[in-house]
Amino acid sequence: MEVRNRVAIVTGGAHGIGRALCRALKIEGARVAVADLDTDAAEKVAREIGGIALQMDVADAGSIAAGVQRTEAELGSVDIFVSNAGVAFGDGPQGAASAPDEHWRACLDINLMAHVYAARIMVPKMTQRGGGCLVNIASAAGLLAQVGEAAYTASKHAAVGFAESLAITHGDDGVQVVLVCPQAVATRMIGVDEDTELEDGTRGFGGNDIDGILSAEYVADCILAGIQEERFLVLPHPQVATYFQRKADDHDRWISGMRRFRRKSMGEGL
Ligand SMILES: NC(=O)c1ccc[n+]([C@@H]2O[C@H](COP(=O)([O-])OP(=O)(O)OC[C@H]3O[C@@H](n4cnc5c(N)ncnc54)[C@H](O)[C@@H]3O)[C@@H](O)[C@H]2O)c1
Repeated sequence: MEVRNRVAIVTGGAHGIGRALCRALKIEGARVAVADLDTDAAEKVAREIGGIALQMDVADAGSIAAGVQRTEAELGSVDIFVSNAGVAFGDGPQGAASAPDEHWRACLDINLMAHVYAARIMVPKMTQRGGGCLVNIASAAGLLAQVGEAAYTASKHAAVGFAESLAITHGDDGVQVVLVCPQAVATRMIGVDEDTELEDGTRGFGGNDIDGILSAEYVADCILAGIQEERFLVLPHPQVATYFQRKADDHDRWISGMRRFRRKSMGEGL
């Protein structure tokens, strides 16, 4: 989809990947609504890019509907809806099943149900208008697994399955679905100060030794290219395709490898 003169809503647009995507969409000529729980930060981004800020809790379908309504009144019909807001809390002390229910519910509400709520509102509108674009930010954890993040991993797998279902069901009606599955990105979600500007122009890499970490700006450019080139799967880290292939080739071997990786990351040796 051509982005110029389109209207876009980006949830979680106040920080991290969402903020970088708001800026990238603006540079390409889109009119952007920055939707976030963090209203002050959303307003700052909106002022910077000449867009509007929406106070939105994506866990609440009514809040998303109100944001769409306001955007349509102020900017015009929504062509691109980016479901980007996401949360992760880590496992509880007893491992994969032990995180409290409130963390499981928040992961499922924000990382999955928010995508359902957005699609429920946008698909009929986009179908009626002959097209539109839903961008769903999942994670490499939705294709593989994030060690120590069972609720996050499960919610992102569900988000991947939902995006596939959306694309299969509504692609023929002109609804383009873009599924984004990054590995580590230098944002607050992984404890990186998103405003640290380093000498080489990248952001927030100081002291972070995660292999293959990308800047939010680079990931935003990958998402933009995915929208423009009408691709379904966007993998900013190309190695994720290799890992996913290996998992499909031999799931048992992949689980053994992930166990080794977990032991190593916990300093337990191999
Ligand atoms: N950072 C990574 O390493 C990484 C990797 C893969 C996928 N992702 C995904 O990318 C997306 C963006 O993450 P990020 O790294 O930019 O994180 P971030 O924490 O920097 O930004 C998340 C934004 O979502 C907002 N948000 C949280 N809950 C919300 C709610 N209920 N309603 C509205 N807004 C809400 C926050 O206020 C924040 O502005 C998430 O879906 C995340 O799971 C991140």
